Amino acid sequence: MPSDPIFQFSNVSLKIDAVSILKGLNFEVHKGEFLSVLGASGAGKSSLLRMFNALSSPTEGSIKFRGMNIEDDMEVLRKNVGILFQNPAVFSGSVKDNLLLAGRWDQNIAQTLDHELIRSLKQVGLNKIELQNKARDLSGGEQQRLALARTLLNHPQVLLLDEPTSNLDPKLSSSIMDLVNNLRENLSLTVVAVSHDHVLMRRYANRVIILSHGELIGEGSFESLDRDQVFEQAGLLDTEAADET
Ligand SMILES: Nc1ncnc2c1ncn2[C@@H]1O[C@H](COP(=O)(O)OP(=O)(O)OP(=O)(O)O)[C@@H](O)[C@H]1O
Ligand SMILES: [Mg+2]
Repeated sequence: MPSDPIFQFSNVSLKIDAVSILKGLNFEVHKGEFLSVLGASGAGKSSLLRMFNALSSPTEGSIKFRGMNIEDDMEVLRKNVGILFQNPAVFSGSVKDNLLLAGRWDQNIAQTLDHELIRSLKQVGLNKIELQNKARDLSGGEQQRLALARTLLNHPQVLLLDEPTSNLDPKLSSSIMDLVNNLRENLSLTVVAVSHDHVLMRRYANRVIILSHGELIGEGSFESLDRDQVFEQAGLLDTEAADET
């Protein structure tokens, strides 16, 4: 596995209104890996993921992207680090309108030609969707693919996923995660995926970090973490307990 760090989190903490959300996190993300961030509901996964593209900043500690302070060049950061949320960010208007929103960080994309947009749809398996279709008429799974196509138009190096399949049925979830993993291999992307579903993530992630109440309580391969029984400690084996945390 490649070991070049693309992100370095050093002693990262986040407090909101004097409440500690994340506590002294230290870890790296390596180029080309599929890193999964696992934890029960409320553990701080989404709060952590938002820091990877500076949608929020640590109240203590530092984050480096490609060796530089993450906020040094926001334009480069936003272009290189794409994010997909649980509810796909799809807006009213056509499929084309939605794809062109990618252009806000890159003037060149404003001149993107239709055939490039169609190629991006094919890349995510939306072969039968026309650019003029209304985006809101697409199914949930198709909207998630459209959001992914828009992100890919920026040619990102990193893809952040915040439970992007938790609103989809298991078969669709697998097909989107398979797609993401194939894109990772073909485009040499680095993937950071937040989830509470350790069963799904086992099929894709090279490495895992585990959060519990804002602390990093485990890091490594699934095999090593299984041995340490850290999934149980994080409330990930009992879904009812996880939902109530
Ligand atoms: N803006 C905010 N103000 C106050 N508290 C917040 C804010 N954002 C998050 N929190 C709290 O921080 C903790 C972590 O939230 P976060 O959304 O990161 O958890 P999560 O692991 O993503 O959970 P889930 O699996 O339910 O999405 C929670 O207790 C949440 O209530
Ligand atoms: Mg969340």
